[in-house]
Amino acid sequence: MTSLMITGAGGQLGTDLMAAAAAAGKQATGFTSSGLDITDADAVEHQVAAWARAADRDGERAVLINAAAYTAVDAAESDVDRAYAVNERGPRNLAESAARHGSRLIHLSTDYVFPGVDRGERPYDVDDPTGPRSVYGASKLAGERAVLIAHPAAQVVRTAWVYGAGGPNFVKTMARMTLTHPTVSVVDDQRGSPTWSADLAAGLLQLAGRELPGGVLHATNSGDTSWFGFARAIYAELGLDPARVHPIGSDEFPRPAPRPAYSVLSQKSWIDSGLSPLRPWCDALAAALSADRSAYLPAG
Ligand SMILES: NC(=O)c1ccc[n+]([C@@H]2O[C@H](COP(=O)([O-])OP(=O)(O)OC[C@H]3O[C@@H](n4cnc5c(N)ncnc54)[C@H](OP(=O)(O)O)[C@@H]3O)[C@@H](O)[C@H]2O)c1
Repeated sequence: MTSLMITGAGGQLGTDLMAAAAAAGKQATGFTSSGLDITDADAVEHQVAAWARAADRDGERAVLINAAAYTAVDAAESDVDRAYAVNERGPRNLAESAARHGSRLIHLSTDYVFPGVDRGERPYDVDDPTGPRSVYGASKLAGERAVLIAHPAAQVVRTAWVYGAGGPNFVKTMARMTLTHPTVSVVDDQRGSPTWSADLAAGLLQLAGRELPGGVLHATNSGDTSWFGFARAIYAELGLDPARVHPIGSDEFPRPAPRPAYSVLSQKSWIDSGLSPLRPWCDALAAALSADRSAYLPAG
């Protein structure tokens, strides 16, 4: 049996991890940010030690999954210290305590560690050179490195464009826009792989059940699109006319943080590790909206 500890349990991925663990009958101890601030090394040590001791006593394999992060990509540009505290120092605290108490660690990272310029149509492999364009991406890359130094047997799982019933996220934003705007303009020059947090959670639980060497893996729903393509698919799934979504360039929608133009992640590392590939992103979107349509639509 596996005993899971999940940090960031109140976030969109954390919520689905807790639900997936419960559905699979797995023991899971979840911490929201108010229950455990991962930037507090003493608090992390206290909770990891108690949980790992209990798992050991019960003869269970201890696997810590860190879904906590500072994910406000634009805000991070002017909130640099906080972004690094949560995305680098926090994961280092978790990795040090997990290593000290003999627990495995699975840590989440992002496609935004890659520059995504002049890439053509070649998905990024795990060992491709990184080069984040934003403070968020740089702080997540620093977190990856801190984790693998403190706990070389840890797995760092990069994912992308995550949405889920528990978010704020792009799907919810688009659903809200359908009520207030007859048309909407969405950038068509950034490509990635939309990923349903429930599918990612299922993949992470499969990973948690395997003994694999430490290092970096990529996990997203398969296939890729632009934000514009994603928005049109959302409209179609909601039974609305996709022609209401118009393509624009990133230069017409300036944001504080630059984004990669192409940040598709290769699934090779995941599949080579014997893990099940996540389904195509458009099938996942249909499943997400049919599983809990009301979660994505504004109330009223
Ligand atoms: N969302 C995406 O599109 C995306 C894309 C690529 C990679 N990822 C990665 O995937 C992982 C999960 O993302 P997500 O979308 O589930 O993020 P999310 O919904 O923003 O959840 C992150 C959670 O972390 C918690 N948190 C923040 N600071 C904390 C602290 N100091 N101590 C403990 N908890 C803290 C937040 O709690 P509060 O809300 O209370 O602050 C929140 O519940 C992250 O590693 C993220 O970098 C996400």
